[in-house]
Amino acid sequence: MHFCGIMYKMKILGIESSCDETAAAVIEDGQKVLSNVVVSQIDIHAEYGGVIPEIAARSHIEAVNPVIKKALADAGETIDSIDAIAVTHTPGLVGSLLVGTLAARTLAVLHNKPFYPTHHLKSHIYANWLSGYNPEFPLLAAVVSGGHTQIIYMERHDHFEIIGSTRDDAIGECFDKVAKILGLPYPGGPNIAKVALNGNPDKYQLPIPKVDGLDFSFSGIKTAVLRAVQNELGLPITTPSHELKEHLSDQQIADFAASFQKTAVNILIKKLKKARELHPETKSILLAGGVSANELLRTELHNAFDKECQVYVPEFKYSTDNGAMVASAAYYSIQAGEKSSDPYALDISPRSIIR
Ligand code: KG4
Ligand code: ZN
Repeated sequence: MHFCGIMYKMKILGIESSCDETAAAVIEDGQKVLSNVVVSQIDIHAEYGGVIPEIAARSHIEAVNPVIKKALADAGETIDSIDAIAVTHTPGLVGSLLVGTLAARTLAVLHNKPFYPTHHLKSHIYANWLSGYNPEFPLLAAVVSGGHTQIIYMERHDHFEIIGSTRDDAIGECFDKVAKILGLPYPGGPNIAKVALNGNPDKYQLPIPKVDGLDFSFSGIKTAVLRAVQNELGLPITTPSHELKEHLSDQQIADFAASFQKTAVNILIKKLKKARELHPETKSILLAGGVSANELLRTELHNAFDKECQVYVPEFKYSTDNGAMVASAAYYSIQAGEKSSDPYALDISPRSIIR
């Protein structure tokens, strides 16, 4: 950014609290991470096998001020030296979103800072810019998180066209539900990936759902795993899923995890290949969202597309929820002409489409 003839670096404080991570970060010019603080509630929710919204909101209240304070201190900044504040305002858990947005709005009002409400999925996509990379447009972004599974086509910054979506469960949700059937702790994704390392991915054949176009369906695979486990154990289909894990050996768990992971990754890669066939002009393919941390998915994406276009995956620390990606997304929106919002007028929304 040029300011009075000298290069001026724009520092944005990004705040994220849409689910079970309270996070804040200071980012310079959209890419340079000056600080990145994440307080995860995973241990609290693991006890219940999933995120409890009421507990999540209360935990955000405890964490939000110390997290913002630490993000500023780690960056060597104060709120006065920050140029703008960005915060996730949609989609997410209402109580969780309320805490982060209220903190951000208060800071913006008290310190008279430009204010940028940011879409969570946009932020996940922009995690790919945080390591100094500049993916070329047009690009395809696979948004694969606990709440979403979408293929998004971008012709330029701040242009988002959803060309494929899940019709039921999100891919991360499916990892979490299958993990539950197998008796693995929350969050399911990383735990499935871990035990899958010892499993045979070809042991169980799971069906690939037949869905037209670029859309997805993941709820059938979860049921297919449930039936396959009941069948393997010789138990009736009326056996509740929470009673299965005690009958499974470690090897069976590993084989089911590996077979499921392979199927889920195949489904995604297949649709991405189709998306690229429909958009042969795409120069880059990106992964975004928590499931982008999956090693098999990363490897298979490279195998599928390295010869055709540039492949980008976020650094592991930026795959799951964080404040750095929020600040980066806001920076590129500002570059594309977005104006500061009124912090008094902000609305949060549990569901919304990226645009
Ligand atoms: O993006 P994220 O942190 O939160 C949402 O916006 O939803 O994604 C969380 C999701 C969870 O479903 C979690 O199980 C999944 O990402 N996940 C993974 C891995 N790490 C996190 N799924 C598969 N493999 C992983 N290594
Ligand atoms: Zn997320």
